[in-house]
Amino acid sequence: RTLKIGLIPGDGIGKEVIPAGRRILEALPASLGLKFEFIDLKAGWETFEQTGNALPDETVSILKSECDGALFGAVSSPTKAVKGYSSPIVALRKKLDLYANVRPVKSVRGPGVKPIDMVIVRENTEDLYVKEEKTYDTPEGKVAEAIKRISQRASSRIATIAGEIALRRQKIREGGSPSIHKGPLVTVTHKSNVLSQTDGLFRSTAREALAAGRFTSVAVEEQIVDSMVYKLFRQPEAYDVIVAPNLYGDILSDGAAALVGSLGLVPSANVGEGFAIGEPCHGSAPDIQGQGIANPIATLRSAALMLEFLNEEEAAAKIYAAVDANLEEGKLLSPDLGGKAKTEEVVQDILRRL
Ligand code: NAI
Ligand code: MG
Repeated sequence: RTLKIGLIPGDGIGKEVIPAGRRILEALPASLGLKFEFIDLKAGWETFEQTGNALPDETVSILKSECDGALFGAVSSPTKAVKGYSSPIVALRKKLDLYANVRPVKSVRGPGVKPIDMVIVRENTEDLYVKEEKTYDTPEGKVAEAIKRISQRASSRIATIAGEIALRRQKIREGGSPSIHKGPLVTVTHKSNVLSQTDGLFRSTAREALAAGRFTSVAVEEQIVDSMVYKLFRQPEAYDVIVAPNLYGDILSDGAAALVGSLGLVPSANVGEGFAIGEPCHGSAPDIQGQGIANPIATLRSAALMLEFLNEEEAAAKIYAAVDANLEEGKLLSPDLGGKAKTEEVVQDILRRL
């Protein structure tokens, strides 16, 4: 099978880590029968400065018509609003209907380290992010309102993909990767005690979707979002797959990333029907750009995550294992993890293990 992958480095260290993502895909063992074709695509602040468009139409149309998946680095966003500029990744999620944002958070195994191995599955298209806001005057002063839209369709498909992710993680574990979890578990997060209609619909729809026959082996539990934050920090090892509406998912996933140390370790994927974009969670890191010291691991894990959603679990598992082995040995680590290794040395160590 040949996969066509769009490469969108973007700005700053995006240009240093995306080539590493390409190399790890190229280095996968031939026995997997996987080949790759890469297409270099533009997006980001530099692209905006050159062309007046942060997301050229060509990038979108090539992704849509030719690619199976993509790797997206990071883009620099101006701190003040700039006319005509808007974030390309947000636009891409809309244009390609990438309805799920998936963020695995995993700690490095070692003595004295709390074991964490969870995935947060965030609904990516609705909730308060429909951005239907208005402000009006009243005798007591201004009032602002925002629409929180929850649909059965979006809630059902996000819960379904969460269930599928739980099953897949179980399969990868059974394939021999050690795990802290006994069986697949999905935690449905909401605040339906207060928002009985919106979050109530999310909760009941998610429950219903996860009651489907193919999920009989998946345990399902619920948790109210505020107590979830408490437990996430006290007992992160209790979570396997977490599914949440857009806003709660956004907050939980940044919070969870803080549990494992460096942003340079945390991958994500934006997933739609038959398409996935792998994307490290970090930004363009202007403070370390050009020094060759960016941690490539978030990108390497994002490449693996993209492969998972293109049904190439075996290839993904090999990348995860090579990365984990590098981290567990702990000899060639980049400066954000307290090491001295350059990006290139980390990449070479991981490629050797692969
Ligand atoms: P950032 O993630 O770029 O950097 C935060 C801190 O983490 C910095 O000290 C940086 O050196 C460090 N860091 C990040 N990734 C690293 C890696 N792979 N290896 C080693 N250290 C790493 O966030 P910041 O500084 O808030 O934003 C910088 C720029 O990136 C801004 O223009 C922002 O808009 C953009 N950004 C873009 C994102 C995206 O494209 N999805 C996400 C977050 C920020
Ligand atoms: Mg966020």
